[in-house]
Amino acid sequence: MKIVVAVTGASGFPIAVRLLKELKGNEIHLVVSDHAWDVLKYEECGSREDVTALATRVYDPNEIHTSICSGSFPVDAMVVVPCSMNTLGHIANGIEHNAITRAVGVNLKQERKVILVPRDTPLSLPALRNMVKAKEAGCSIVPPMLCYYTKPKTIDDLTGYTVGKILEMLGIGHELYERWDK
Ligand SMILES: Cc1cc2nc3c(=O)[nH]c(=O)nc-3n(C[C@H](O)[C@H](O)[C@H](O)COP(=O)(O)O)c2cc1C
Repeated sequence: MKIVVAVTGASGFPIAVRLLKELKGNEIHLVVSDHAWDVLKYEECGSREDVTALATRVYDPNEIHTSICSGSFPVDAMVVVPCSMNTLGHIANGIEHNAITRAVGVNLKQERKVILVPRDTPLSLPALRNMVKAKEAGCSIVPPMLCYYTKPKTIDDLTGYTVGKILEMLGIGHELYERWDK
């Protein structure tokens, strides 16, 4: 598959790194916001070089004259993981202020799958409303939620649960958690 992965400045860079590792073998077009790179310094899940090495091609978030910002560049899906409330607000209101929100905009207009992994807590009323608006615009909303019945033992298990949910939305098989089959 050919997938655009965008990382924004919410907590959860390790989710993006795990997703990129699970997507190995696919064609990955990666764009990381400036604020996301700041968050990486706190979340310590590898260096900038480690992250970019997981992608086929890396884009400048401030450069909108690139392929991912055009609807004529065919991709199968786009994932914004994690999705900050700032980026969510732009997406929900159709504001294309950088390469990430422009890429979301073109993929929505082309009626392609766009998955958002919004992360903040607690959630403000504007954030909740923006999730509804983004859903109405055609995005899938997959927040990183804790799950206990899968009996997670490590943070990596919890991360894997969210990544498994994203892979399921992409139609990609995985063994990151056991399926409910009673
Ligand atoms: C360590 C750290 C953690 C943050 N966590 C969140 C978060 O979980 N959710 C969120 O919406 N913003 C969070 N922020 C704030 C965003 O980074 C900030 O709103 C930024 O403007 C987002 O820009 P972007 O959408 O271009 O990435 C965090 C900032 C820092 C420094």
